[in-house]
Amino acid sequence: MIGVAIIGCGSIGEIHAQCLQSVEGARLGAFCDAFEQRAQELSRKFQGSYATTDPARIFSDDSIDAVYICTHHDTHSLLAIQAAQAGKHVMMEKPLALTLDECYRVGNAVEKSGISLMTGFKMRYYPSVARVKQFIPNPIITVAQMMDGHWPSDFWANDPIKGGGNVLSQGCHTMDLVYYLNESEPERIYAEGDNFTHDGVKIIDNIVATIRFANGRVASVVQGDSGQTPFVSKFSFQVMDGMRTAHLHDRMKTATLFDGEKVVEHTDPEEYGFQEENRDFIRALQMNQKPPITHRDGLRATLLILKAFESIRTGLPQDVRF
Ligand SMILES: NC(=O)c1ccc[n+]([C@@H]2O[C@H](COP(=O)([O-])OP(=O)(O)OC[C@H]3O[C@@H](n4cnc5c(N)ncnc54)[C@H](O)[C@@H]3O)[C@@H](O)[C@H]2O)c1
Repeated sequence: MIGVAIIGCGSIGEIHAQCLQSVEGARLGAFCDAFEQRAQELSRKFQGSYATTDPARIFSDDSIDAVYICTHHDTHSLLAIQAAQAGKHVMMEKPLALTLDECYRVGNAVEKSGISLMTGFKMRYYPSVARVKQFIPNPIITVAQMMDGHWPSDFWANDPIKGGGNVLSQGCHTMDLVYYLNESEPERIYAEGDNFTHDGVKIIDNIVATIRFANGRVASVVQGDSGQTPFVSKFSFQVMDGMRTAHLHDRMKTATLFDGEKVVEHTDPEEYGFQEENRDFIRALQMNQKPPITHRDGLRATLLILKAFESIRTGLPQDVRF
């Protein structure tokens, strides 16, 4: 049995706990939150062995093999480094960290310790995404857009210290999916953007970025909270290979495939991913294998956003090799 602790018992911590209940081989152990009551609530609900406000108690607990880091973004890197040093495997919610330096430190700690860190990129598990990858395995052009409705300026994820803003928070998913659809390492990013709608909050809230991959192919990424567009919803990912095109829309549940003559459309009944990523993480640990989505995936996605910010600040393209 893999003993699991949840650190950060908010909405996503609870979703993971719910999923883990039906993952064979997982045992929910400890629940940790800065708010004791929240940790206790989840511990009671999921029959945990204890609730705590102190992550150090979990890191020194021999019955815990893996920790889920589901806290606000300013705590991710330190918790991940401490977990790695304690020999605990990690399921990490995005982003990996808030700064480039922290990202590299997490990467080093994971590699030095030999633990597994899986990044929670649930959209890789959507059947619609698999259909698009199969239909167009080698895109020439990718056009990705994730546009939220306006996020309140006082939302914690928009806080420059606690969250880093929508672009960092949500953009990691977008960057990971763009990479996943291309499966070529990004080499360079150029971005434009600004704080357009969150007066007085020190974040870049909307960006338009161009990425060049090692295989010479390119992607365009639009990320922010300027409002969802009625035809494509929050998400729109289009790929083209010179002959065929595919479009993920309808919150990514629908894949519309066009071979130049006929259009075929598939719609998934629901959004998948949370259950599947939990299953794969626990299975990988049980089999002593690396998880399918690693710390390098988390690193790449976070670096792409942070380098996009750097590009906006400097007006120059940024090297994103790592
Ligand atoms: N994969 C997805 O689709 C998805 C969706 C939403 C959020 N997320 C990510 O999940 C994470 C959590 O987001 P959320 O929406 O659950 O937030 P939330 O505010 O609901 O929960 C976060 C919890 O972490 C606790 N916390 C903060 N600092 C802590 C610390 N140092 N130690 C212990 N507990 C601490 C808070 O008290 C809170 O209960 C974030 O990284 C977010 O980006 C992922």
